[in-house]
Amino acid sequence: MISDKMVKSINHQINREIYSAYLYMGMSSFATELGLNGVANWFNVQVQEELSHAQKMYGYVTQRGGRVLLEAIEEPPQDFSSALDLFEKTLEHEKLVTSLINDLVSQAVEEKDRATEIFLQWFVTEQVEEEANATELIQKFKLVGKDGNGLLMLDKELSQRVYSPPAAE
Ligand code: FEO
Repeated sequence: MISDKMVKSINHQINREIYSAYLYMGMSSFATELGLNGVANWFNVQVQEELSHAQKMYGYVTQRGGRVLLEAIEEPPQDFSSALDLFEKTLEHEKLVTSLINDLVSQAVEEKDRATEIFLQWFVTEQVEEEANATELIQKFKLVGKDGNGLLMLDKELSQRVYSPPAAE
């Protein structure tokens, strides 16, 4: 049996995942404004990933007999300065999400809720990837600096990213 407290915590995380999608949607739009359509594509895929994270949690809460209660989503920051800035802020945000997921795992452990603990493992692994992706892109954008050709090549590389839904379990 899942506790009301656990359902409430996962509900809050659903909000954080949708907020993440909202944040990345704004970043995508900023990249489009810069003329970096590949970067915009990368963030659009990120939006879809975040929504899929929320849906994965929605499915779990529902499966455990809990009710998903939606919270308000605040306006994300929309003041950015460059592609590098976008990825630095992405890494900062993903580190925060990692700490939220870790808190959820700690709660599941405290409550001896093994099912939720196992469910959350997917997110623990996902966060390692999220942080690694942002870190790699920060390095690349730092290497390229203000070199126009390098930026265009990197943008082209990011235009290749496609969304693939998380594998069904
Ligand atoms: Fe849902 Fe970017 O973590």
